[in-house]
Amino acid sequence: MKFLILNGVNLNRTGLREKGVYGTQTLDEINAEIKAYCEAKGDSADFFQSNFEGELCTKLQEAGDLGYDGVILNAGAFTHYSYAIRDAIASMDVPVVEVHMSNVHKREEFRHTSVISEVCQGTILGFGKNSYLLAVESFRL
Ligand code: DQA
Repeated sequence: MKFLILNGVNLNRTGLREKGVYGTQTLDEINAEIKAYCEAKGDSADFFQSNFEGELCTKLQEAGDLGYDGVILNAGAFTHYSYAIRDAIASMDVPVVEVHMSNVHKREEFRHTSVISEVCQGTILGFGKNSYLLAVESFRL
């Protein structure tokens, strides 16, 4: 299978910000582990991170034409309010799995709302970097 792993706003600061919440590994290090995990199972993974909502929408729009079987999306704080990303996901044929490293339900109230969950295949949260690997596994079931 061919996966696209999308990370949204501030995820480029992973390993540098709020280490108690998101850990000490950088996004590049986490992505390298996801890539190795996928390749060990004969799958491929491409990666994209942006702090710009519209760039993420464009990537989502292109996912079908580029032949991805699944998109794994950690939209960061966009999760909680981006109707643009929600609409982009709703317009797609490729399934999208929503991911969060932290358990957002144990955190501030504003993080308890996701405007994208309803249009995603499912949501995996609270397992740190392993949330991404569990999302990959969800496509095999
Ligand atoms: C996050 C949770 C969001 O609430 C937050 O804004 C992030 C990261 C997570 O992976 O736990 O940037 O999506």
